[in-house]
Amino acid sequence: MAQNGWDPQRLPDLSGRRFLVTGSTRGLGYFATEQLVRAGAHVIMTGRNPNRLQAAHAAIERRVGDASGGDVETLLLDTSNFGSVRAAAATARGRGPLHGLLLNAGIVHPPKQRRTAGGHELVFATNVLGHFALAGELLQNLAVVNGRMVWIGSMSTSLGDYEPIDVELAEGYTPWRAYVQSKVATTVLGLEADRRLRDAGVPASSVVAHPGYSISGRTTGVRGVNEPSRMTRFVDNLQTPFSQSKERGARSLVRALIDPAIAGGEFWGPRFVVHGAPHRGRPAKLTRSPELGQRLWEYCENATRVRWPFEKAAKARRRFRG
Ligand SMILES: NC(=O)c1ccc[n+]([C@@H]2O[C@H](COP(=O)([O-])OP(=O)(O)OC[C@H]3O[C@@H](n4cnc5c(N)ncnc54)[C@H](OP(=O)(O)O)[C@@H]3O)[C@@H](O)[C@H]2O)c1
Repeated sequence: MAQNGWDPQRLPDLSGRRFLVTGSTRGLGYFATEQLVRAGAHVIMTGRNPNRLQAAHAAIERRVGDASGGDVETLLLDTSNFGSVRAAAATARGRGPLHGLLLNAGIVHPPKQRRTAGGHELVFATNVLGHFALAGELLQNLAVVNGRMVWIGSMSTSLGDYEPIDVELAEGYTPWRAYVQSKVATTVLGLEADRRLRDAGVPASSVVAHPGYSISGRTTGVRGVNEPSRMTRFVDNLQTPFSQSKERGARSLVRALIDPAIAGGEFWGPRFVVHGAPHRGRPAKLTRSPELGQRLWEYCENATRVRWPFEKAAKARRRFRG
C-alpha cells in the first residue's frame, strides 16, 4: 500500500541504475537486493563466502527471473579484511558509475573470535572500518551520477550511552557493547560523511537507515538464503507484536537508497521503530555530535589508511559529463 506517495511494492523503475550491496547473501541485504532487482536495477551482490554468494545469486534468478529487466553480478568482499575491500573496490570501480551503495553487511551476534588478523576488534572492523574504506574507494563512482550511500544504524543506539571512546574495546568487551558501539559509529559516520560531502561540494549524498527489529523466523523461506529451524520460527513468531520480517525491514533501507525525495543527512527506519513502513526519524542524540564525527573519521582514516578523495570526487561529475 502506498504511504506518502511511496509504495514499497511498486518501486520506481530502476532500469539502467547500478547498486552495490554488502552482505547480500542473506537477511536484509538479500531482500534489499531482491527488491532492487525486481524494480529493474543492476545489483552487484557481494559476500565473503563464495558458496553462500552463489546460493543467493541462484535464489535471485529463481525468484525474480528475467521479467523485471534487472540483473545481478557477484563479487567477493569480506568487510573485515582491508585487502579484500581494496580488491573488491578496484573491481567495482572498473565497472563504472554507481547510483547507490548499501553498506549493510554486519555481525549482529558476535562470534568467539574477538580480533581480525590485522588486530582490530572484529565487529568494529566488519560493521564500520570495512564500510568506511569501501565508501571512500567508491566515492568517485557515486559522484559521477549523484549517487547515494546508505549506512545501517540500529534502534539499539537509543538504548543507552555507548559512546565509542575505546572503539577497539581493549577493555570492557561484551558482545552487546561491541555491536551497539559499532552501530553508533556507523550512524555517526553516515551523518559526518554527509557534512563532509556537502562542504567539499561532492555531488553524492549519505543517508542512515535502520530496519527496526527484523527476524528470520518471520521471513519467507528462501532455499540457501533463509532456512530457519522450526524452533526459530516458533520463537520468532512469539515476538510478532514487536518485530517484522526481513523483507519488510529491507524496505526502509531500499527507500533510503532510492527515493529521490530523501536528502543527504536524513535518518530512515520503520514508522513504529521496531516495525512498519519506511518513515523519516531522528537519530539518537549522541550520534549527531560533529565532534564525535570528527574523532571517528580520523580514527577510521588512520586505521584503514583510506582518505576519501573529496577533491577528485567534486570534479568527477564535470569530467563524466564533459
Ligand atoms: N535484523 C535486525 O533487526 C537489525 C536491526 C538493526 C540493524 N541491523 C543491521 O542490518 C544489517 C543486516 O542485518 P541482518 O539482520 O540482515 O543480519 P544477517 O541476517 O545476520 O546477515 C548479515 C549479512 O552480513 C554478512 N556479513 C557478516 N560479516 C561479513 C563480512 N565480514 N564480510 C561480508 N559480509 C559479512 C553476512 O554474510 P554471511 O552469509 O557470509 O554470514 C550476511 O549476508 C547489519 O548491519 C545489522 O547490524 C539489523
